Amino acid sequence: MKEMSAHSPIDQIEQPSSFAFDAESEAEIATILVKYPPERKASGTLPLLYVAQKQMGRVTGSAWVPRVAMDEIARRLEVAPIRVYEVATFYLMFNTKPIGRYHLQVCTTTSCWLRGSDDVVAACKKATGISAFGQSSADGLFTLTEVECLGGCSNAPILQVDDDFYEDLDGPRTIELIEALRRGDRPKPGPTIDRMGAAPAGGRKTLTDSPADSRSDQG
Ligand code: FES
Repeated sequence: MKEMSAHSPIDQIEQPSSFAFDAESEAEIATILVKYPPERKASGTLPLLYVAQKQMGRVTGSAWVPRVAMDEIARRLEVAPIRVYEVATFYLMFNTKPIGRYHLQVCTTTSCWLRGSDDVVAACKKATGISAFGQSSADGLFTLTEVECLGGCSNAPILQVDDDFYEDLDGPRTIELIEALRRGDRPKPGPTIDRMGAAPAGGRKTLTDSPADSRSDQG
């Protein structure tokens, strides 16, 4: 059974009393809203929630969307606040309670599970001291969340840290990654083993001859 995520009923969380978009967010909002006709600007709900969450991460070190930010988005988009609440509480990529500086999101769906996501989960818990999904570490640096397929199955198992994918992980490489984050380093995202993108692990096993070689073999 899935454990709790960083996504909780918004009426159970201590909320800030105010929220205002900063200049960087306002610039992003301007480029987003210009895509929609005025009578369709409610379509900007998802991207504006994302802008609010990013701003919270940038400014406070905890990327989440407080209710006052949802209210501000509703005001901007001229919709009832409930229209924003229902979107923010439906999609798991929005955190409706404060999280750690680094959001560790482990995929445990089939491909990742078959390729060792249990080891990644265990390593995350060991390296952070977190005992269950949905919790944050005592130092406030990490929050651990279990997620469904991230669409990176060919490089399973995947650990998403904030917006970055770390791929082909095992237990020791997961611990190395978390220790690097703790030091303030940000390792390059992508495959953590020696392969290009989603090329076969261990090297190519098919189409290894050039067409000319194949023709000459056939005599
Ligand atoms: S199953 Fe983990 S990325 Fe698809």
